[in-house]
Amino acid sequence: MRVVDEIRQKLDIAEVISGYVLLQKTGQNFRGLCPFHKDTHPSFYVFPQDQRWHCFGCSQGGDVFSFVMKKEGIEFRDAIHMLAPRAGVSLQPPAEASSSLYRLNEEAAHFYHQFLRTSGRKARSYLAGRNISERSILDFELGFAPLEAHSLRKHLLSLSFSRDEMIEGGLLVLGERGEEDRFRGRLIFPIKDEGGRVCGFGARALDDSLPKYINSSKTRVFDKGSLLYGIDRAQESIRRRGRVVVVEGYMDVIMAHQNGFSDVVASMGTSLTSRQVSLLGRLTSNIVLALDADAAGKMATLRGIEVVGDNLTQVVPIPDSRGKVKFENESRAELKIAIIPGSKDPDEVIQKDPKVWEEITREARPAIDYCFDLTASELDLNTIEGRTQALDRLLPVVAKIKHPVTRSLYVQRLSRMVKVTEDDLLSVLPQKQTERNLKPILSKDESTMEEYLLSLLLHYPKLKNRSIIEAEDYFQNAESKEVLVALMGEDPGKLEDAVISEKVNKLKARDLPPLKDEEAEEVLWSSIHRLKWRWLRDLKLKEEVLLKEALVGGDREEMARLEQYGLKINQMLKEVERK
Ligand code: UTP
Ligand code: MN
Repeated sequence: MRVVDEIRQKLDIAEVISGYVLLQKTGQNFRGLCPFHKDTHPSFYVFPQDQRWHCFGCSQGGDVFSFVMKKEGIEFRDAIHMLAPRAGVSLQPPAEASSSLYRLNEEAAHFYHQFLRTSGRKARSYLAGRNISERSILDFELGFAPLEAHSLRKHLLSLSFSRDEMIEGGLLVLGERGEEDRFRGRLIFPIKDEGGRVCGFGARALDDSLPKYINSSKTRVFDKGSLLYGIDRAQESIRRRGRVVVVEGYMDVIMAHQNGFSDVVASMGTSLTSRQVSLLGRLTSNIVLALDADAAGKMATLRGIEVVGDNLTQVVPIPDSRGKVKFENESRAELKIAIIPGSKDPDEVIQKDPKVWEEITREARPAIDYCFDLTASELDLNTIEGRTQALDRLLPVVAKIKHPVTRSLYVQRLSRMVKVTEDDLLSVLPQKQTERNLKPILSKDESTMEEYLLSLLLHYPKLKNRSIIEAEDYFQNAESKEVLVALMGEDPGKLEDAVISEKVNKLKARDLPPLKDEEAEEVLWSSIHRLKWRWLRDLKLKEEVLLKEALVGGDREEMARLEQYGLKINQMLKEVERK
């Protein structure tokens, strides 16, 4: 079942849904006309934070799978097949297939490296010109790809790798004369994971031709957003020093290491993803982002420094107390920003004067302070407009600080800055949302309750009663939901489906306390009840978040509508609580 979670994690629900529904951004969320009922005003919402959708008009909702299933009229299994390629997730048994990809890449890296050392004179002189040492060439296993169109292909065929494997590994492209090596006449940087396995390659042109770099295409083992260049060689030092410095480029990493700064890794030109942060979080909680003033400025002016670039899946870690960052594995990291002066590359700074690099990185400041200072320096806080903009930028940042004391300190600071009383600030601060933001997509508690209910049904088949299907609406886990539907459905064959049988077997194997039939029924209904309550409470939280956003945005019409939804949900909650 891992693929299902993986697909959900890697896909951006807003992006998928926007292929069907015209979505409009409202604060953190999206809104559009509901595709499942006759909607006259937009009551359909997408919540990227927990990757769910909900329509306040027809009360339907769910995750990316349920959306596609409903919209395309397909089954769960087909939805998996449809979404997996979009998420870059392979449905084949991963272990052995991946291990052959690693072997393939290792052979390719070896081939390029040998070629650089034996025949790549031009590339070697290029590297020398950039002051890359022999030692670094060996340490980073740098290579050079021959200009000839089929050299790697021939070599790998001679090692009895198949064409298919090479295509899967992203090493071939379709050129004018059929399949050709993807990398030709370029300097090669093998990109390795923490275990030193070669996952893919970056390849630099030796002159000014564009694109400057070509990277491996996304494969089962290569996904830029999950890797950090240099991590294999940096991890020891990161642990020891209790710090990591994240730069952008391959060259920067190599030059840093060559000068003894071995705690440096590269995000490879894109903004740091939460996956990369959680990778680093296993080594240290002290993350320094080395950015030039431009990049740092851009980052700090984005709402809550969350979303960077136009790709919504590229989430920069969320600052917590004093720039602490919460990430997937629930640990915390401190995100600091080091500003590189004069729009130079770390490579250049280090070559010019390593001491300057040492200093810049040592003096890195918490991201949150940086946001405040930048805002103060960029906006005219004597004008209402400037203060409104400052509020707009900083409120989401402050809202994400979890630690109450730290948070109130920043509320104070913000209050002085924009001349709004602390009480007023607190009233617009989306408090509950903070809690929710930090929760994993599916908390353990939720999936446990759903699974418990399913085990009950499997152990006490007598309990199957048509009205139980009501619970389907309250299930949040797509697989669990599918099992429930299969269990209640007329088609028992569905349970044999490979996609769900694994889960069913696990549930069957669970020990349940012995219960009499009546007791089992009571337990069953009380779990359904709790699921329903949870579902409503979740809706209520979402509605409150939207309401606050509408309030800040001054959208009165939207506020009135949301209040209506809120009343409806309150009423339902009351009913459930009364039972
Ligand atoms: P830079 O343009 O700063 O390159 O891009 P660099 O590493 O400093 O290389 P030199 O010094 O010009 O030789 C930073 C990183 O962005 C990614 C690469 O990972 C690069 O190291 N990048 C850049 C690409 O993937 N493709 C590109 O076309 C450019
Ligand atoms: Mn550079």
